Amino acid sequence: MRQRLNKDQWRRVIMKGVVFTEFLDFVSATHGADTADDMIDDAAVPSGGAYTAVGTYPHTEMQALVAALARRTGTPAPDLLGLFGRHLCGRFAVTHPDFFAAQASLFDFLDSVDGHIHVEVHKLYPDAELPVFRLNRRGTDAIDLDYASCRPLEALAEGMIRAAADHYRQPVAIATSRMEEPAGPFVRFSIRHAA
Ligand code: HEM
Repeated sequence: MRQRLNKDQWRRVIMKGVVFTEFLDFVSATHGADTADDMIDDAAVPSGGAYTAVGTYPHTEMQALVAALARRTGTPAPDLLGLFGRHLCGRFAVTHPDFFAAQASLFDFLDSVDGHIHVEVHKLYPDAELPVFRLNRRGTDAIDLDYASCRPLEALAEGMIRAAADHYRQPVAIATSRMEEPAGPFVRFSIRHAA
C-alpha cells in the first residue's frame, strides 16, 4: 500500500477535472449557484474555478474548495465529501452504466472497482492518480474493503460505497477503521449486509 507523502509531494498531487466539474455541479444543485461562486472566491484557488472535465488540477484546490464550503455552510468537510461521493457515484451510474450493469451485486461491483473500473479509467486518463482498493470476503454477508490513497478521501469513498449500495438495493452497515502496515496507512471499510 502507499507511502505517506511529504509537503512538497502533496502539492504536486493532481486530480482529474471531471471530479472538479462534478463537485461544482453538486454544490450548485445542493446549495445554489451563488454559494458555488462564493465558495470559489473564499477558497481563492489558483485556477479561479475555471475547470474543464479533461483538465488536471492540483488536489490541494479540491481541499481548499471543500474547506471553504464547510466554513460557509457549517457542515463538516467529511460530511460534505460523503454527500459529494453519493452524487459522484450517481453520476457515474448515468455516464458509465455498463460498469454497473456488468455486476449483479454490490460486493461484486466493489470488487470490480480496482480490478476493472479504475483500470479502464486509467486507460482513458493515463495521468489519473487512482486509489488502491483491496477486497477480502468475510463469509457471504460481509467484506473488508481496504482503501489506500495519496489523498485523504475516505469520506468520498464511503459516500460512493453507500450510493452503490442504494443502486443495487442492498442496504449495508459500514464500520471504518484506520490501519497501519509497514508499507503505509490505509482505511478499512468493514461492510455487512443489513437485514
Ligand atoms: C463507474 C464507476 C467509476 C468511475 C468511472 C470512476 C472514475 C474515477 C475517476 C475519473 C477518478 C479521478 C482520478 C483522478 O483524479 O486522477 C476517480 C477517483 C476516485 N475513485 Fe473512482 N470511479 C468509479 C467508481 C468508484 C467507486 C465505486 C469507488 C468507491 C468504492 C471509487 C472511489 C474513488 C475515490 C475515493 C477516488 C478519489 C481518488 C483517491 O482517493 O485517491 N470509484 N474515480
